[in-house]
Amino acid sequence: MNDYLQCALSGWAGALLFGSGVAMPYLFQRSPGAKLPYLRRMWPHYWLGYLAFFFSLGHAWFAMRSGNMRGMNLSGVWITTVALVVILWQISVGLLLRDPAQSKRHALRRLHLWTMALVAGLIVVHVVLNRP
Ligand code: HEM
Repeated sequence: MNDYLQCALSGWAGALLFGSGVAMPYLFQRSPGAKLPYLRRMWPHYWLGYLAFFFSLGHAWFAMRSGNMRGMNLSGVWITTVALVVILWQISVGLLLRDPAQSKRHALRRLHLWTMALVAGLIVVHVVLNRP
């Protein structure tokens, strides 16, 4: 597989994993009849979040490894670098939210939600600025 294909596939896989991860909390809404508690049923959401990060990292690696950054929109590259750091931040907030005894749940949920919106926006801008 050539560099371009690896870069494109890892990028779209990262975006797909991110999108499916976002859908999970709404699919697993707290339902009184469920056997397992909500935070335990949410494990696919956690894994999709970790995988979205690793695929995005791989995508950045394939893009840089090709060594052909000439002509690329640098703002787009910076935006996607910021997005990667923000995803790491999102994962750490998520780890705090996993704790059933978390006393700041309300504030952290809002932060987690707005961080998701920020990352989604950064991904869209990156795709627009750096599309081939
Ligand atoms: C790309 C990464 C991620 C995105 C975009 C994301 C996004 C979201 C969104 C949109 C919600 C629903 C928020 C709400 O109901 O107001 C949510 C809930 C949650 N997320 Fe994530 N998340 C990510 C990664 C993670 C990770 C890695 C973990 C844990 C290790 C995690 C833990 C949680 C938990 C525990 C909830 C439920 C909080 C609650 O309702 O009390 N998230 N996430």
